[in-house]
Amino acid sequence: MADKMTMTVNGTSLEGTPEAGECLRSYLKRSGFTGVRRGCDQGDCGACTVWLDDEPVHSCLVPAPRCVGHQVTTLEGLAENGELTDIQQAFFDAQGFQCGFCTSGMIMTAAKLGDCDESEYPQKFRGNICRCTGYRAINDAMQGVCNIDRNPGHGGVGCAKALDCSHAVVTGATKYTGDVEPEGMLHVRVVRSPIPHGRIKAIHKEAAEALEGVHAVLTWEDSPKRRFSTAIHDDPRVDADDMLVLDNVVRFTGQRVCAVVAETDSIAQEGCHLIKVDYEPIEAVFDPEEAMKDDAQRVHGQAAESVLLRPRSNVLLELLGGIGDIDAGFKEADFVHETTMQTSRAQHAHLEPHCAIATVDGDQVTVRASTQGPYIAREKIAHIFGLNMLSVRVYKDQIGGGFGGKQEVITEDLAVLAAMKTGRPCKFDFTRQEEFIGASFRHPMKIRVKTGHTSDGTMTAFQMRVVSDTGAYGNHGGETMFSACHEPVSLYRCPNKDIAGYSVYTNNVPSGGFRGYGASQTAHAIETHLDEVAEALKIDPIALRRINVVKEGDGLTAFSGDHGSHEIGSYGLEECMDRLEEIMSQEGGLPDPPAEEGWVCGNGYATAIQGCTPPTVHRSKARIELRPDGEFDYYTGSADMGNGTDTTLLQILAETMQVSTDRIHIHAGDTDGDAYDTGTFANATTFVAGGAAVRAGNAIVEKICKAAAKYAGCDAADCHIVDSSVHAMGKTIPLAELQEHVRKDGRSLQVVRNHQADPSSVGFAAQCVRVAVNRHDGHIRILRSVSIIDVGNLINPMVCRGQIEGGMTQGLGWILSERVLMDDQGKVLNDAIRHYRLPAFADMPPMEIEFTKTHDKHGTMGAKSIGEIGIHTIAPAVANAVHAATGVRFKEMPLMPHTVLKGIQDHDGVDR
Ligand code: FES
Ligand code: FES
Repeated sequence: MADKMTMTVNGTSLEGTPEAGECLRSYLKRSGFTGVRRGCDQGDCGACTVWLDDEPVHSCLVPAPRCVGHQVTTLEGLAENGELTDIQQAFFDAQGFQCGFCTSGMIMTAAKLGDCDESEYPQKFRGNICRCTGYRAINDAMQGVCNIDRNPGHGGVGCAKALDCSHAVVTGATKYTGDVEPEGMLHVRVVRSPIPHGRIKAIHKEAAEALEGVHAVLTWEDSPKRRFSTAIHDDPRVDADDMLVLDNVVRFTGQRVCAVVAETDSIAQEGCHLIKVDYEPIEAVFDPEEAMKDDAQRVHGQAAESVLLRPRSNVLLELLGGIGDIDAGFKEADFVHETTMQTSRAQHAHLEPHCAIATVDGDQVTVRASTQGPYIAREKIAHIFGLNMLSVRVYKDQIGGGFGGKQEVITEDLAVLAAMKTGRPCKFDFTRQEEFIGASFRHPMKIRVKTGHTSDGTMTAFQMRVVSDTGAYGNHGGETMFSACHEPVSLYRCPNKDIAGYSVYTNNVPSGGFRGYGASQTAHAIETHLDEVAEALKIDPIALRRINVVKEGDGLTAFSGDHGSHEIGSYGLEECMDRLEEIMSQEGGLPDPPAEEGWVCGNGYATAIQGCTPPTVHRSKARIELRPDGEFDYYTGSADMGNGTDTTLLQILAETMQVSTDRIHIHAGDTDGDAYDTGTFANATTFVAGGAAVRAGNAIVEKICKAAAKYAGCDAADCHIVDSSVHAMGKTIPLAELQEHVRKDGRSLQVVRNHQADPSSVGFAAQCVRVAVNRHDGHIRILRSVSIIDVGNLINPMVCRGQIEGGMTQGLGWILSERVLMDDQGKVLNDAIRHYRLPAFADMPPMEIEFTKTHDKHGTMGAKSIGEIGIHTIAPAVANAVHAATGVRFKEMPLMPHTVLKGIQDHDGVDR
């Protein structure tokens, strides 16, 4: 054991004993400092930035013992007597964050920049990554821009209300799951498979079990034998139950094989190193087209073990459908064109890694998790372990980003198993490396689009074939295929459509739900295909879209004529395109490329549609109760992951009840709240949980007014809630007094309301990107990006803009820089942020975003969904702009400089 050591943290002496090899970050976190975060383990993300003797450092790179006798400052050390420092206030006012996970590091870096010009920020912030914001809001903070309404009134719909968590975020007080440590907590680490496919013959665990501090080594023999899907959806039947907590067959390189549960993280890791596993390799298959063949090696074995929805080799889901007569449609066409596109994997890279902490007390199981769907996670835990669902509680608190990556149960199950085996609270969290090798990616899809057109551009036939690599497990493989074959296809009103989609098992790392959820992939293929059609027919690309997009009053058709629950509840697409053309045609609308020789310019366009709910059921319940103090408790099962849903829901409820948001206390994402919600994903929260809030808000107002009328002896129609009272025919009854009166009567003022959005609506977007491409080195510069978005009424304009910017930033990363490298055994080679190339401050162009002024008839208070529409247009718009600039059409992504250069050289016939 190391010696005791002393350092000064935030002006106070801290004495303690570091673990062997412990870094300053881990030591500070273990000592209870929450203003320092763990986003990676290699100095790549900056979330752990603190000051060491007044200099910002990445504390994960500093050995704790090196700080003996030194001064360390964390974010908690900045504000004095509750007074925010100027830089903290600036981040608050600009709302320079969403999930807040990067914010500690951002502020600690920003506070030491001194006098520095705006043009220097990209360089100065090179060590700090934000995955949520797109950096514009951080830039605003540095520039002293205030993005919130300083006098928000009652905080209702339409105001830029600051996120509820803002003060805690800028002071470092937020507690993510990894920041809590119940007494006696043990740590779980796992051994992961080095081979892509094989049967486990033996696990030699004796040495690990003998290690001091190890409490258990868990193998497939300890695992419950109930299969489940890690994907979170309302209806479990839409996903294949193909996963065990621990299995005796491994199906991808990186799959967990066994787990060590120990007193400390480092002992658990050491235990893992002592375990030897014997495997009997099985042939593996990595190419989905190969895996579809009838004689391909089965990823999930023969019938008994198989979970295939169709009796074909490795095809998890086959989606075949269409409308009209596709052959007739092609016959009618004057011009037929076909495009094949391969989209790439991408990592969610939410800065907070997956984490769950489980506690077992008798037959009660409690799990705190970083999850987008606590209620479904509870159902899965109950299913896996054969428990009564009411004996399981799952809850979340602050979440550091999700983007669909936390729509999976991939830590909770093992944390519970460990807690059951040891009787102690157990934490299972992912390292950053595990996020790359053991979590999930965006589904790579091979997409062939073929359309027929009359000579004026009218589409007569639309055919699409999609092959999606779901990887070794089927989580989200089916649902993403429904999305892929639905909305982007329904954007065009062609009478003859023919769709074939195949979601296929391989021995690759599993794919999962990721913002855009399959639709981004096919939108990319369709929108680039249409660009080629426009070029061939010599029609302006926007004009081609104007001819073919759905119009107000149209039904939405894709793989069937049945519109499902989606219909056009408000239509702003024409307005999006009108405004886009107006802006781009203004003087100076098309900036020139850099003056140096070699730069060429081009514009690219894309349009998009996005459903406001998922293809399958999404439900939500809201429970509201008048408290003894006259304020309100509001329970919802939705799980804000940094996307501002708590604040948005509060605004909706405040508007409904005409009560200040300050008087409503939200309790979200806790199954003990008895307010079921399918989860925060698929764009659904404003539409579905928001709808439940409106219903419950109206109901509680009605109930209160009835009670007040009885109390005051008047008519309920004459009663109105005003602030903290009810006004009843000249009488003012404080809500606290009314609550007491009702309570004495043995009643309560509580309501519960459910909502399921049917019909649901769709949002629209149109985008233009102007790029400059350097023909000598392949570099791309975004000169201008303009997006016009139709998402109905804006509940919180600031949150809406942030969601669009966040989505577009992830789309930019997808098309320009993010690339997963795998070897021929499906092993991810670039398993660190530094090798994956997430968009940094320096990469972000200014993004011009405008919203239409539509009001949706199905939406909550006229609002449509905001979370995903931003990602659909940017990738195809960039790809189309690069084509316009270079004449080269790239069929794969990302468009990295060496790829672009090679494309240009091949196109020009240059000898290298
Ligand atoms: S946690 Fe230190 S840089 Fe990422
Ligand atoms: S706010 Fe920056 S990572 Fe979430």
